[in-house]
Amino acid sequence: MTYELTLTDLAAMKQRQEKITCLTAYDASFARLIDQAGIDIILVGDSLGPVIQGQSSTVPVTLSDVVYHCQCVRRGCHRAWLIADLPFLSYVTADQAFAAAALLMQQAGARMIKLEGAHDELIAQLVAHGVPVCAHLGLLPQQVHQLGGYRVQGRKADARHRLLNDAKTVQAAGASLLVLECVPSELAAEITTMLDIPVIGIGAGSACDGQVLVLYDILGLSPHPPARFTHNFLAGQTSISGAIEAFRDAVKQHHYPTSEHSYR
Ligand code: KIV
Repeated sequence: MTYELTLTDLAAMKQRQEKITCLTAYDASFARLIDQAGIDIILVGDSLGPVIQGQSSTVPVTLSDVVYHCQCVRRGCHRAWLIADLPFLSYVTADQAFAAAALLMQQAGARMIKLEGAHDELIAQLVAHGVPVCAHLGLLPQQVHQLGGYRVQGRKADARHRLLNDAKTVQAAGASLLVLECVPSELAAEITTMLDIPVIGIGAGSACDGQVLVLYDILGLSPHPPARFTHNFLAGQTSISGAIEAFRDAVKQHHYPTSEHSYR
């Protein structure tokens, strides 16, 4: 029987400074390849909107979409820690968030849910009832229409302050992981050192405890021009498994991300 990673394993990796790897997946076949390559975390992200459905953002993704894709991924995922996104407007009230978490954890096999923003009261309520929470700060793609585009966050002094406070707040509320998206490397490094929980970066520099990328981006299949922080790991490889292993090795050996993939 395959050993399934736990939150304790991920916390121990931060302690011993072993980089944590995370890729998104949306179906059983890719999940199996990712799992067999020894990637530590699989995220059923609402990035399924742009990469699977051809949507222009994550906003149209529904809870049933995430449940369906998480059920598919669960069948191919045996070792990795499995996280599912709570999609746009599915966690406005605690009742909604609990109903969504019940579907994702009981019917779709997710071990943890991820939500965007520093919703400390909601995080505390979920955690009090046994729902492990991954917080997501920095660039919040579900707010793209409010933000007016995808931009690096935390560059100005007030935004930097807010991000540092939000990071402390979500940890204090009980989040056990933090995804930090598109923030200057120096700020991400400060947050990573400040927090006890593992910080998984995407466009947040090399000092984070781990790295997450969208699977289709590492395979050179981005629907839009690729962001600065992505990298085509299929280039130079002869198979999809080779690309996934190249991502794994680059992160574990501190070769990815470089300053070319990071923001100042
Ligand atoms: O939806 C997603 O894939 C994500 C990652 C990019 C972090 O949230």
